[in-house]
Amino acid sequence: MATRESEPGREIEPPPQRVAVLDAGAQYGMDIVQLSKRLGFYAERLPFETPLEKLRGYGAVILSGGPESVYDINAPMCDPRLLQAGQDRPPVLGICYGAQLINYALGGTVESLNDREDGFTDILTKPDSSVFSDLPENQLVMMSHGDSITELAPGFQVTAYSSSNIVAAIENEAERLYGLQFHPEVSTPKGPEIMRNFIHIIAGLEADYEYSYEEIIGDAIAEVQEKVSSRDVLAFISGGVDSTCLAALLERSLYSEQLHLVHIDNGFMREGESQAVVNYLAAAGVHVKLFDASEMFLQGSTIIDGIQTPSISEVIDPEIKRKIIGDVFIDVQDRAAAQLNLGPDFMLAMGTLHTDLIESGSKHASNRAGVIKSHHNDTEAVRRLREQGRVVEPWRYLQKDQVREVGRRLGLPPEITERQPFPGPGLAIRVICAEKPVCAGDPEKIVAQLAEFDNDEIKTALLGIQTVGVQGDHRTYGNLAALSGEANWPELLQLARLIPRAVRGINRVVYIFGEPVEGYIDSITSTRLDNDAIEEIRYVDARVNSILKSHGLDRSISQVPVVSFPINFGKEGHRSIGIRTIMTDTFKTGDIALPGVDFPEEVLLEIVDRVKRIPGIARVAYDLTSKPPGTTEWE
Ligand code: XMP
Repeated sequence: MATRESEPGREIEPPPQRVAVLDAGAQYGMDIVQLSKRLGFYAERLPFETPLEKLRGYGAVILSGGPESVYDINAPMCDPRLLQAGQDRPPVLGICYGAQLINYALGGTVESLNDREDGFTDILTKPDSSVFSDLPENQLVMMSHGDSITELAPGFQVTAYSSSNIVAAIENEAERLYGLQFHPEVSTPKGPEIMRNFIHIIAGLEADYEYSYEEIIGDAIAEVQEKVSSRDVLAFISGGVDSTCLAALLERSLYSEQLHLVHIDNGFMREGESQAVVNYLAAAGVHVKLFDASEMFLQGSTIIDGIQTPSISEVIDPEIKRKIIGDVFIDVQDRAAAQLNLGPDFMLAMGTLHTDLIESGSKHASNRAGVIKSHHNDTEAVRRLREQGRVVEPWRYLQKDQVREVGRRLGLPPEITERQPFPGPGLAIRVICAEKPVCAGDPEKIVAQLAEFDNDEIKTALLGIQTVGVQGDHRTYGNLAALSGEANWPELLQLARLIPRAVRGINRVVYIFGEPVEGYIDSITSTRLDNDAIEEIRYVDARVNSILKSHGLDRSISQVPVVSFPINFGKEGHRSIGIRTIMTDTFKTGDIALPGVDFPEEVLLEIVDRVKRIPGIARVAYDLTSKPPGTTEWE
């Protein structure tokens, strides 16, 4: 174990391996505890007034933010000895109110300036401060304060200013006292590194604590109670793993009068799904109200860059579809809140996962995440609510497999915890819309490049539609390459791995059942997100899923999106169906289920045979693309 040196040659005892978080009634107190534990440092939340004698048993002390101003009569005050010079005590980091208190208590001034700083703010840091060690000088941080530090207490220096020239960080290195005006524990992209710098570099703790599921659940309950307090909570429960586990957690955490669980039928659900969800949740003890909002969604539109979009049934671009759906969810939420008579400051609870935030390019997940696709849990409207502190998302640091485990421990049955995920925007992102063929490059050139992969048994073709992918952490919107001929799966898989690397503009490769196809396939059935297209995919999806279920494959394969795409292969008015399997724990990356290896090929053939016989279906394709370069969903 590492030790710190006090004097050259003399080793001192390692500090106690736990962090004390003194809670000033913050929105964010539990976030500090949780972040510390995620970083591998055990942390406990303690009353603000905890005496110094007790705090000596901790290796680091963090003073949280809080609603009060340091001048308020009831402002929380820590043990004054904690801040005095020359005391034998652990290093102290004050966050927001905590930072102001350190400065004020030691003789500096804190004032209420005209400008509040709320939301993401740029700061410029001094690189020689250990708090910002190894981090960029320019950073984005989450601010939320009215009061500001104006004059410094003796012995302190400013180590960061915000772009509006407000003090963003202070320190007195000799006394090991530090203050941050911003919140490293929420939404600040480099917040975890800043916290690690304080706890590990400055306080000398080792990151050897393992965050158990019991603790994760206990902390999530504490977080919900802290953030929600006595307010009403609205949560949309789709019936999927994330939202159902959320519902189970909320039921444990809050009084039933506060809690309003609603299942929205957005018109893009699977066959019979909404009623089935309400029923099986009731059986698991989770009571949700059903709202039929299908008309609102089918006619939904939104404003993007100041311009009203057409209604979703006129839109082709998948990102616009997703944005409309995300924003209609917010409109529906307002209606639901009004119908349920919720107070104006009600909280929205969501089952957002870490991956959801990363893929929608949220600053809440990473400073640099590129947008791969807009997640319905992370629209502009949700981001605004988040900045107002009106969103509670206890799974925002977890991955899918961890949420499943949480669900098991919350006592949910395997039918729920092992359920395949289904995206919030539902079938709307499984109908690829088009009015004419599209190609991300010169079709002739791409066809020629693809033809180099042809052999006696397998032929290549370029399909004139685009789908979403992820390559090098960036979103791609590329064309589909099709393989056809002999269904030699290992060889097909091999080709599917090579082609997106070799041929620019291709991010997804499918195998087309039936007669071989070659060249540029550009015969399109003009398709919009109308009732016909949705009814068709709903019908096909139900048939495919019933076959999968009858063979028990709904458990062993992680997810099987069934997608409609508008290539008609010369059969006017027809569309084709893509079957996408994905094997993954986390959904960050994944591979396809290989027929004959991961599941019996006969099942796939049974599915193809069934789908082919559905009127209006031209061909069936099997998606051979891993993630990356393809995403699980095609849009
Ligand atoms: P991708 O397509 O990004 O999907 O590889 C990863 C997982 O997330 C699901 N998904 C969504 N879930 N809202 C959701 O609730 C969405 O907007 C959304 N987009 C994708 C997808 O089905 C897969 O399980």
